[in-house]
Amino acid sequence: MAIERTFSIVKPDATKRNLTGAICAMLEAGGLRIVAQKRIQLTLAQAQAFYAVHAERPFYDELCEFMVSEPIVVQVLEGENAILRNREIMGATNPADADAGTIRKEHALSLGENSIHGSDAPETAAEEIAYFFSGLELVG
Ligand code: CDP
Ligand code: MG
Repeated sequence: MAIERTFSIVKPDATKRNLTGAICAMLEAGGLRIVAQKRIQLTLAQAQAFYAVHAERPFYDELCEFMVSEPIVVQVLEGENAILRNREIMGATNPADADAGTIRKEHALSLGENSIHGSDAPETAAEEIAYFFSGLELVG
């Protein structure tokens, strides 16, 4: 198995409830290493660009408003099969469908306010990491 990097966001519903540490502990316990991390607040234009793939979906405006409602923690995770592994630790998009012990089952409030984002493929992981982190912020 290959060592990969993936991109993750602790979303506003989680930072607001002071769950950043609890969520990062679940990522670490799941075998991923946080190799870059910062707390930021997105502008609406940045949120819209980040979620541009969903621009035609009915939930897009609500999603972008939610993502700018509080600061978020953006991070790069590293580990074996990190992209898939992160999605497993996160759980299904809708917490009602998520397996027990996953971040979304334990912490998400709803389908929209679901506590965490994770890249879905190698291409999106590379794009999303580059959107938020410069080369200087990424150690070896
Ligand atoms: O985040 P994930 O990759 O699991 O799901 P997505 O299909 O890429 O959707 C991105 C985000 O949009 C979700 O995490 C939810 O916050 C939100 N969403 C929503 O509000 N309503 C939906 N029906 C689907 C997604
Ligand atoms: Mg997605």
